[in-house]
Amino acid sequence: PAPPTTIAGADARAVRAVGVVGTGTMAAGIVEVLARSGYDVIVRARAEEKVAAVRKRVESSLEKSVAKGRMSSDDRDATLSRLRGTTDLADLAEADLIIEAVVEDLDVKRELFTQLDKVAKPGAVLATTTSSLPVVECAAVTSRPADVIGMHWFNPAPAMKLIEVVPTVLTAPDVVATVLAVARAARKHPVTCADRAGFIVNALLFPYLNDAVRMLEAHYATVEDIDTAMKVGCGHPMGPFELADVVGLDVTLAIQRTLYLEFREPGYAPAPLIEHLVRAGYLGRKTARGFHNHSV
Ligand code: 3HC
Repeated sequence: PAPPTTIAGADARAVRAVGVVGTGTMAAGIVEVLARSGYDVIVRARAEEKVAAVRKRVESSLEKSVAKGRMSSDDRDATLSRLRGTTDLADLAEADLIIEAVVEDLDVKRELFTQLDKVAKPGAVLATTTSSLPVVECAAVTSRPADVIGMHWFNPAPAMKLIEVVPTVLTAPDVVATVLAVARAARKHPVTCADRAGFIVNALLFPYLNDAVRMLEAHYATVEDIDTAMKVGCGHPMGPFELADVVGLDVTLAIQRTLYLEFREPGYAPAPLIEHLVRAGYLGRKTARGFHNHSV
């Protein structure tokens, strides 16, 4: 059946062009998914080299699909032709939906939403991919809080099917309908949830990851044995330390702190070892070193 595009009697707004702000792992994955799904994508980076880096990542991912026989070279070329880069935020004026995927820092996001409010066309939906900061904080700095919503993707974005759609108390119903429709058009499974730290997944996942680190700190078991236990015993695709390395220990720490600040559960306080590893520059896969050594 055709996916519903109406919510609480509100029709989804038309979306053809999507702006993505950011050039990190999540931004590059989101750009790829949307371009593959037929949207015109404008990616905004702070420097030309970063635009080129995103394009390169998308190209190499599409190349893998072609090599596996899952994509024709014509489709690859068409997908790449839908992708444009810019260093000027004003170029996002033509976007019907703008997705912010920059660093998980509230001040940076607030400043960006202040700017987006100035450049976005009337009726554009403004989405944040924050994984644990309050979406309403981004909405509140704009003159159009009803158009602001959370759209939380999972890592790696091209592979993970879930998108958490997070309306604030101010979000208009047709904005929720729009983001649900885009998620479905991108062949993802959207769920909706309230604007509370961690939404659904991270509120359940990060206390578990933190507990695994506490187990390690207590010399209860090794990294390898804890990872193996959760994979083989529970059927998880990755153990907690493998997963923390994929997410990034800096991001893990930021989410853990936000959960602790919102819920004040003593067990949510970040395990000291996470803080130490981040201080040491061991951020997980992106630095080739986290709980695991990825350089070998
Ligand atoms: N980019 C694109 N596609 C990828 C990918 C990547 N980086 N990594 C894997 N894939 C695809 C592969 O192409 C493959 O697709 P196919 O089945 O169509 O060929 C599929 O994923 C499976 O990959 P592999 O067989 O190579 O490897 P695995 O079976 O080990 O799967 C995995 C890789 C999908 C990453 C799997 O290990 C997994 O599900 N891990 C858990 C990831 C997870 O839990 N993510 C959520 C983290 S929490 C989060 O993101 C929230 C944030 O706020 C912190």
